Amino acid sequence: MPNSKSGSKLQELLNEDLSKSEKKITRISDLKDNVGKEVFVRGWVYRQRGSTNLAFVLIRDGTGVVQCAIKSGDVSEDTWKDANDVFLESVVYAYGTVAKEERAPGGYEIRAKELKVEFRGEAFPIGKDQSTEFLLDVRHLWVRSQAIINALKMKAFVMRTAREFLDEKGFIEIQTPIFTSSAAEGGATVFEVTYFGGKAYLAQTGQLYSEALIEGYPLVYVFAPSFRAEPSRTPRHLTEFWQLEPEMAFYNQRMNMELQGELVERICHEVARKQTDILQKFKRDPKDLLGIKAPFESMTYAKAIEELQKKGLKIKWGDGIGLDEEKILVQENTQPVFLTNQPKEMRAFYMKINPDDPRTVLDGDLLAPEGIGEIIGGSERVSDYDELVKRLKEMKLKEKDYKWYVELRKYGSVPHSGFGMGSERLIRWLLKLESIRDAIPFPRTMNRLEP
Ligand code: 4AD
Ligand code: MG
Repeated sequence: MPNSKSGSKLQELLNEDLSKSEKKITRISDLKDNVGKEVFVRGWVYRQRGSTNLAFVLIRDGTGVVQCAIKSGDVSEDTWKDANDVFLESVVYAYGTVAKEERAPGGYEIRAKELKVEFRGEAFPIGKDQSTEFLLDVRHLWVRSQAIINALKMKAFVMRTAREFLDEKGFIEIQTPIFTSSAAEGGATVFEVTYFGGKAYLAQTGQLYSEALIEGYPLVYVFAPSFRAEPSRTPRHLTEFWQLEPEMAFYNQRMNMELQGELVERICHEVARKQTDILQKFKRDPKDLLGIKAPFESMTYAKAIEELQKKGLKIKWGDGIGLDEEKILVQENTQPVFLTNQPKEMRAFYMKINPDDPRTVLDGDLLAPEGIGEIIGGSERVSDYDELVKRLKEMKLKEKDYKWYVELRKYGSVPHSGFGMGSERLIRWLLKLESIRDAIPFPRTMNRLEP
């Protein structure tokens, strides 16, 4: 067993300043291009097993996982000791030769010449087969899991794709306030906070402010957190979620839905083409997503009620279409579908009345297939002053609470439309996640504020 510390390449590396050693480290995702070469890798211990003269330390660095094979006869006593004396999540550095190895996870391994524990820590509290509740309690540690990191990588890719799409169309990204003075999406789900002795509400949407901005520049979008005091414990509700909200001047509801179709198709196709590794981990066949083809069909609320009645539900015109009903409507679908023209009483005050059936509005919720349901909510907005005042009254809202918003209809008001796409709902659909919680690192729900 060679045991001289002198000539230790790892020790030399660790003696250097991080800014220098950094450049000598190979990322695990790049090992495939380094077969036969000697490399340094570093990361967290993902798994460890050992026998009398052969130990395996699996290292993950965020870009992938690699197995390091350590033979007692080939390494120093220090390396052998370190390889056998680590915890899950200890931080290690390894130096060795990259080899193709079919039996190793990922298909490559490092035949280690040296391995060093940089930070040992304590026994990691998360093991196999733990309950969902426990994993939520230790979310600050569980966010390093491959499943969460891969979902976040996907979300980053999806949002980049959405931004590119909107950018190509000439949109600008704008910011809207989180502290607001009135509820935009209904008082029942608004979070109230104290604001210097007064009251403020956390934004449920950026929409009303975007409506002010489109009169300065016609195509804007905001990607920001939305807050809803939603007491529902469902796999699709969070109290804090991130919404992408485009708003467009001179757009009617038909144009609005066309744009949504194009956006969703683009995202699905880009994901299917460029994120096959992640899709595979979530057992999503890229073909499902390549098959998504805009324009999407529309189903009016009236038709949806008929469909649901045919399926034996006791439901009538005027009843709400909630989670369960949506699920039934799209259970067999492979394409998203717009649910349109819902009764005005159950829709937001800012939605324009449908001229062909004034009991309803010009809205469209995009329902994702496979039983997922709503991922986008959108509508044409009321652009006429008198109609808006009337809508506020009908909805029993005080005009004075929406003073500035109503005033927009006095100066240069134009037909306009917009939509909000829930980013976590979209990821849940694309990755077939059981719960929306796994599409956000620190989910906020009715009974969870920690960690
Ligand atoms: O349908 P919503 O409430 O529409 C609006 O907020 C509009 N102001 C959007 C607009 O036209 N600019 O919400 C939009 C989307 C939903 O379709 C859903 O995807 C998501 O936001 N969403 C939620 N996601 C997670 N948890 C919740 N509690 C959500 N509520 C809505
Ligand atoms: Mg909605």
